[in-house]
Amino acid sequence: MLKTQITNLKNEAIGEILETNEVEVLEEIRAKFLGRAGKLNLLTKEIPNLAPEERKDIGNLIAETKRTIEDALRQAGEKIEKKSGEREEFLDVTAPAIHPVEGHLHLITETIQEIYQIFANLGFHRVRYPEVEWDWYSFGGLNFPENHPARDEWETFFVENLENKKFGKGLLTPHTSSGQLREMEQTKPPIRMINISKCYRRQSDVSHAPMFFQFESLVVDKGINITHLKGTLDYFAKNFFGPGRKTRIRPFHFQFTEPSFEVDVSCGLCEGKGCRFCKEGWLELGGAGMVHPNVLKNGGIDPEIYSGFASGFGVERCLMMKSGLSIDDIRYLYTNDFRFLKQF
Ligand code: FA5
Repeated sequence: MLKTQITNLKNEAIGEILETNEVEVLEEIRAKFLGRAGKLNLLTKEIPNLAPEERKDIGNLIAETKRTIEDALRQAGEKIEKKSGEREEFLDVTAPAIHPVEGHLHLITETIQEIYQIFANLGFHRVRYPEVEWDWYSFGGLNFPENHPARDEWETFFVENLENKKFGKGLLTPHTSSGQLREMEQTKPPIRMINISKCYRRQSDVSHAPMFFQFESLVVDKGINITHLKGTLDYFAKNFFGPGRKTRIRPFHFQFTEPSFEVDVSCGLCEGKGCRFCKEGWLELGGAGMVHPNVLKNGGIDPEIYSGFASGFGVERCLMMKSGLSIDDIRYLYTNDFRFLKQF
């Protein structure tokens, strides 16, 4: 009688185990059959009422039933776990993708690409010339007299123990104008160069960094005059700063251009009316002028046949002058602080 009850109980438990797919239900089945107040325990309590010769058999049968139910519970549990694992691996190609956090190029790199694109539209080709340069290309060949203050150690970084008999001292070029002679040596007119490179000067304050970028335009051809320079400057200003912006040129002095100018762009905040940010409606961009005949000669070009213009501006300065940007210290651009860079 008790044997039959135990066998029925085993079949009942296994039937319920096979029917479920849920771990929680398996736990309920465990409690129902194997728990302290479970069905199998209730039958165990009957053992003392049995004849002594039967007790051992029934005890063994109950122990074996318990093992069988436990095995069935374990196997069913493993099966459910495996199935849910398989579900996780299923790839739903129609599910919306997780978009990774996107970075962007450094502000200076972005600005250089933008500047280059504007000049490329006018047919300029991009070049880069040595940053460690000879005095001849940075100064001597550009018409600088021996005693010019730019050669002073406080402005220019000279490279120790680097000197060339023909080209003079080795230095870190303080401006991209050194590329003018290099370009003339390599390319014969017509020349339309945009040289965007690193420059170095012994300077450091809110608007000067010891290492910075300049972009230098150089055009040499027959019949080039100031209107070509002005047209190029205006095209650059309108495309870089915005369609409402204008440029003006003021007389200035550079050794390597004649006549020479300082170039201003109209202020984007007050639209040229004059405000706290600008000087009577204008912001200074950089230098420009018509290439000096001596420089053309030093570059192997006949100034009687050809003429040219050149301009040199700071990349960082132009970026800082864009409307809507408030970068009040040039050095932030080089500290690589994400709190600053992420704003743009
Ligand atoms: C020159 O360097 C001339 N070579 C420009 C030129 C080219 C004139 C061709 C004529 C023909 P200047 O020293 O003014 O000029 O510098 C030009 C620009 O470079 C400045 O207006 C400024 O925007 C940038 N610049 C100069 N020094 C620094 C510096 N230490 N840090 C950041 N930008 C600078």
